Amino acid sequence: MHLKIVVTAGDGIGPEVTNEAVAVLKEVASLGGHTLEFDARRIGGVAIVRDGTPLPADTLAAALDSDAVLLGAVGGNEFNALPPEERPEVGLLKLRTALGGFANLRPAFAFKELEVTSPLRPEIIDGTDILFVRELLGGLYFGHPREWNRVAGEAWNTMHYTRDQVARVARIAFKLAQGRRKKLTSVDKANVLEVSQMWRATVNEVAAEFPGVTVEHQYVDAMAMHLMNQPRSYDVVLTENLFGDILSDESAVITGSLGMLPSATIGGKVNLYEPVHGSAPDIAGKGLANPLGAILTGALILRHSGGLEAEAAAIEASVRKVLELGFRTTDLARGNQQELTVLSTTEMGAKVRETIKTMLVSA
Ligand code: IPM
Ligand code: MN
Repeated sequence: MHLKIVVTAGDGIGPEVTNEAVAVLKEVASLGGHTLEFDARRIGGVAIVRDGTPLPADTLAAALDSDAVLLGAVGGNEFNALPPEERPEVGLLKLRTALGGFANLRPAFAFKELEVTSPLRPEIIDGTDILFVRELLGGLYFGHPREWNRVAGEAWNTMHYTRDQVARVARIAFKLAQGRRKKLTSVDKANVLEVSQMWRATVNEVAAEFPGVTVEHQYVDAMAMHLMNQPRSYDVVLTENLFGDILSDESAVITGSLGMLPSATIGGKVNLYEPVHGSAPDIAGKGLANPLGAILTGALILRHSGGLEAEAAAIEASVRKVLELGFRTTDLARGNQQELTVLSTTEMGAKVRETIKTMLVSA
């Protein structure tokens, strides 16, 4: 297997965590005789500073010519005063649009070993295994008109979806549910928003193509609560762009840290892989960042772009093993936990590589 992976590490902790993800992928490739080619490119704040734009032309061209793109994180406090269209985040939004992936898969799961790390009680989160399918190319993020009219003291954004945009992401979510516990929860605000009413009607139409899957609809406000008091009752959760952004961060409470969550965006020309967490400028460069979300994102590259299921599963098993052995980054060392070893970002990456070697060699 040969994969050309463009790495856009970006800002803040992005470079630290993607370094570890790339090192783990290299280890897996060398053990399995696969060749992974990595091509580092700039995006976000670092690109604004060096190239004068958050998405340089060479980054975009390389990404479009690759098999997969691994993104670290974008954004930083020094850019907060910029208007939305000039911010680091625009680089990512343009990249998402150009690559075309509209279905952002965000698994949220409870690790047995991290039960005490979560502020939720173990009996509530135990066994939670949710797959969020977040629509990534529509809604408030991209709708027009959008403007902050400073003179008039008015601002607006537009939540816009076409029926086709809803149907195509719903189809992916239903297919994924078929391969899991066959339940799909669609989240909307259909008691207030026309967009949500169309969303719900379209999801119901697509549901007819998947008779084996049970569908339920939830309002987003109720969902925000149910997610915390009955997370186990969800399988696939389908929702629009902004609701998915918010609920996926909330779901990090189940896992214990935002630093644990990976994501994969599929359905377009080139798949885009990003950990769910942001650039965390407050801890950047200190060796405190948790690289496991990025490492698990690397596993998703092997699964969805390389078809290397065994290798992806080996990375996931290694992460579990490392946690089982009591190794933690600072974000995971909360709660009343004894006999833990707190590791830096690079030490944690090295631990995963060490473990994966024993797994793949003994397999
Ligand atoms: C995410 C992030 C991005 C988003 C930002 C950085 C544009 O929060 O991937 O969840 O809102 O989609
Ligand atoms: Mn987010």
